[in-house]
Amino acid sequence: MFMRVTVILPAAGLGTRMASGHGTPHSPKQFLELGGIPVLIHTLRAFAEVPAVTQMFVAVRAGEMERVTAQVQEYGLAGKVRVVTGGDSRQESVARALAAVECGDEDIVLVHDAVRPLIEPEVIERTIEAAEKSGAAIVGLPAVDTIKQVERTADGALITATIPREYIVQAQTPQGFRAGLLRRAFAEAEADEFAGTDEASLVERAGARVMVVPGSAANIKITQPGDLELVEFYLQRRSSR
Ligand code: C5P
Repeated sequence: MFMRVTVILPAAGLGTRMASGHGTPHSPKQFLELGGIPVLIHTLRAFAEVPAVTQMFVAVRAGEMERVTAQVQEYGLAGKVRVVTGGDSRQESVARALAAVECGDEDIVLVHDAVRPLIEPEVIERTIEAAEKSGAAIVGLPAVDTIKQVERTADGALITATIPREYIVQAQTPQGFRAGLLRRAFAEAEADEFAGTDEASLVERAGARVMVVPGSAANIKITQPGDLELVEFYLQRRSSR
């Protein structure tokens, strides 16, 4: 059976954690350039390389609609990409894009952080396959560090427990789901006013099983100063291979 695969890229963040701290204005991280090409375009290209992907939705702030639409055209991606308005939270941005997606309940929707441009087509394919098989699958990375649970106190963070790391996976994106399941999870979260930091947390609370497929440490989420340099390093290493 032919399965449609729709990709949603939330890209409406302000990137406040990228601020230099010196009061200088900063550009939201999804618009920073890597080798002269915007981060968002790198990310879109990675998904465009996967033959199963039928369409992509990018959620951006209202004031960025024109700029992003022009960029998508400039890089020849207009045929597959639709730009929509995002919201005040990542969840709201994904919800708005999801509302614009027209596909059957059995089709697959992948959500991916616009600020993870190094995602590899093989990992995207692995996520699609697992989501088709299980209904829900995300990319995760086994924890290598020892993980502590802490309580914030006036004196700083105080350890309250050590969580055995074999039970820990760091959630990355893409996160893929059958569209019907994702729509139901979003509707339930909205009704309960639940706010999650990823899509899987909404789907988990909707009672579905979510599988984890292995990711790579190179799938960096550009979040803090220094991350962009690290991504540049990986990109150069890839192009010199
Ligand atoms: O804030 P966080 O690091 O979780 O952002 C992950 C992704 O969600 C980024 O690509 C960011 O642009 C996006 N986002 C969004 N709308 C918001 C906040 C974040 O689309 N209101």
